Amino acid sequence: MRAGFIILTLLSTPALAAGDQELLQEQCGSCHSLSGPAPDSAQAYRDRKGPDLGYAGIKYRAEWLEQWLQKPIRNRPAGMFYGKHIKTGPKGDVVDEASLKPHPKLDAAAARAATNALMALKEGAERVKAGDYKTGTISLSMGEMLFDKFRGCLACHQVEPGYGGVSGPEVYTIGKRLQADYLVSFMRNPKIWEPKTIMPARKLKDRDLQKFVHYFNALAAEDFQ
Ligand code: HEC
Ligand code: HEC
Repeated sequence: MRAGFIILTLLSTPALAAGDQELLQEQCGSCHSLSGPAPDSAQAYRDRKGPDLGYAGIKYRAEWLEQWLQKPIRNRPAGMFYGKHIKTGPKGDVVDEASLKPHPKLDAAAARAATNALMALKEGAERVKAGDYKTGTISLSMGEMLFDKFRGCLACHQVEPGYGGVSGPEVYTIGKRLQADYLVSFMRNPKIWEPKTIMPARKLKDRDLQKFVHYFNALAAEDFQ
């Protein structure tokens, strides 16, 4: 019995990988593109239901994915496209929470299977240079000065819950959520990843790109959330 069980387990490993891709297609494909290309018109960008996952394996950290899929907490305070989830209140525009639906949740086994399948998706890997990010540090106050005062990023990104703009993903979990070399590539040229993104291409200096990632790491260490 026992020997038979072990053989079965060994045999089932490669088959499981193919099955996991099917699981992604069935349970996630209705909202997420799993193979690109990114939306190439403003309309398609606004109507997209979830972030593209075709390059999940070069973008996300596996540990984060596995945990988040079991306990998803919104990273984009105003949903996928803020224009669809903002209403005007007495004090100006606010996020219309009632228009945002909770993300589907997976159990531990499904989250692990989905994570393995997602980490195998590496479309556009040539845009990321391994080792582009060089480890370093920056103080929270210097980081915030650069992010807010000098570069105006705070207008669209929250640096702690409730502080900052809502049209982009929050940046206080990025240090745990995303891979550093991907971040450098994305900030250097957001349009190669998202041709229709509302994030301005600012031709940031390499020194600043590095400092931003140091800053995201410092924020992540604060454990907001
Ligand atoms: C009903 C639509 C829908 C389905 C189905 C769905 N998602 Fe999502 N997903 C979203 C939306 C909308 C967001 C963006 C909200 C946010 O930032 O939290 C999102 C965000 C994510 C993120 C975080 C992205 C980031 O960059 O922060 C991951 C990872 C993810 N989904 C994976 C999955 C997986 C895996 C499945 C299938 C098991 C799935 N999703 C099914 C709509 C969906
Ligand atoms: C006008 C709004 C806007 C401004 C200003 C802006 N961003 Fe963004 N940013 C976005 C949006 C929106 C996204 C998500 C990509 C998309 O869906 O288009 C994003 C994505 C990102 C990401 C990837 C995060 C993720 O979770 O995928 C990083 C890193 C980032 N921005 C850094 C910056 C930095 C650094 C600055 C300042 C130099 C900046 N942003 C300025 C809107 C903005």
